[in-house]
Amino acid sequence: MKKLIGPFKQVVTLENLPVKGAISDEQLVIRENAGVLVSNDIIEAIGDFDQLVKTCDQVERIEEDCVLLPGFVDAHTHICFGGSRARDYAMRVAGKPYLEIARAGGGILDSVRKTREASLDTLVASATQRASRHLAEGVTTCEVKSGYGLSVEAELKMLEAIKKVNDTHAIDIVATCLAAHMRAPEYDDSTAYLNDVLAKLLPEVKSRKLANRVDIFVEDTAFSVEEGRHYLNKAKALGFDITIHADQFSTGGSALACEVGAISADHLEASTDQEVALFAKADTVAVVLPGVTFGLGMDYAPARKLLDQGACVAIATDWNPGSAPMGDLLMQAAVLGAVEKLTTAETFAGMTFRAAKALNLHDRGQLVAGQLADLAGFATSDYREILYHQGKLKPHKVWKRGKLV
Ligand code: NIG
Ligand code: FE
Repeated sequence: MKKLIGPFKQVVTLENLPVKGAISDEQLVIRENAGVLVSNDIIEAIGDFDQLVKTCDQVERIEEDCVLLPGFVDAHTHICFGGSRARDYAMRVAGKPYLEIARAGGGILDSVRKTREASLDTLVASATQRASRHLAEGVTTCEVKSGYGLSVEAELKMLEAIKKVNDTHAIDIVATCLAAHMRAPEYDDSTAYLNDVLAKLLPEVKSRKLANRVDIFVEDTAFSVEEGRHYLNKAKALGFDITIHADQFSTGGSALACEVGAISADHLEASTDQEVALFAKADTVAVVLPGVTFGLGMDYAPARKLLDQGACVAIATDWNPGSAPMGDLLMQAAVLGAVEKLTTAETFAGMTFRAAKALNLHDRGQLVAGQLADLAGFATSDYREILYHQGKLKPHKVWKRGKLV
C-alpha cells in the first residue's frame, strides 16, 4: 500500500551526517514543501510535494504548518517496574545521597521487592502506559531493560511483560536482560550470582527469544570490572549484544565497554578525559542520560567533549523509578544541549540515528528511502522552534511504520 504524506513545511532528513563526532548545523539537509512517499511501512521517497502528488492518488494531506523529524529512539530505559520510589526521591531532594539510601534498603532493591510482588498483568499495564506516553511524545522505538527481578523467575516475568508490550503496542521495543543490575539479596557472593545468571537465565532468555542484549551495572556498589569482563565475554559467546551501565559514580565501566566491544556504554557522568579519549577510537556508542542528572542532582556526562574528541553520542532518558523518574526525552535532550553547548544537529542525531546505532539498529533514525516510516511532526514552520521550546513543543502527529498513531 502506497501513500503520500504532506506537504511538510520542512523535513529535517538527517541524511549524510557523520556517525561519529561533532556536527555543525550547516550540515543539516532541510527539504522545504516536501512530501514523504510511504510504501507499506518503509519510506520510498522524499521530495518536492507538488511533484510527488502527480505520481500518487493516495494522499494523507497535512493542512497545518508541520516540521518533520525522524521518530525518536530512546536507547536506554527501565520502564517495566512495580511501585514507585517517591519516598526515596523526597529523601534525596532533602539531601540524603542516592547510594546511602540504597545501603539503607531503598534504591534498586526496593524496586526489586515491588517488581517481584507485581503480577505479570500489572507490569504489562504500567509499562504499556509509559510506552503510550513515549509514543505520543515522538518516541517510536524504545529500549526496555529487565533488572528489577534478580532471580530466574522474576527476570523472566519482566522479560515476558516487556515482550507482551512489544507484541501489543505500536511502539517498537528492544528488550535487554539486566539481571546483572545488582547482586540478588539471596546471594553473598557476586561471582556466584553472575555464574547462576549465565548458567540458568541467559540460555533461557536466548531460547525463548526474550532479549538479544545483555547489560551489567559496573560500579563500586554493583559489579567490578573483572566480574563485568568475565560475564560479558560469556554473554557475547552466547550470542548476545552487550552494553554496560558505565562510569555513573566511578570509572572503569566505559574502558571495559571499549575493550570488549560493547555496542554502547551508558551514563558516563564520572568519565574523565581519559575515558573520553577511548570512545574516539572505539565503535562503542557513548550514551548520555541527562534524566539522571536531574533525578540525582549531579553532573552531566561530558557530551561536548565526547563529540569534540570524535565519539558517537546518543541521548536517552534512563526512565526508571529511581534515578530518572521523568522520562521526557525531548525535554532532557533540549536542556542537555543548552548546558553542554550542542548544535541542533548533534542533539537531533543523538535522539535518532545515533541512538539507533546504540541499539545496533540501522533501519531507522534518518528520513531517507529504505528507512522505516517512523515520523514525528511538529506544528511549526521552523525546525529550530523544536529545541527552543525546551521540550514543551511536543509532536502533534506521530507516524509509526507509516501509520498515524
Ligand atoms: O540507570 N545505575 C543503575 N541503574 C539505574 C537506576 C535504577 C534505579 O535507581 O532504580 C540507572 O540509573
Ligand atoms: Fe539505567
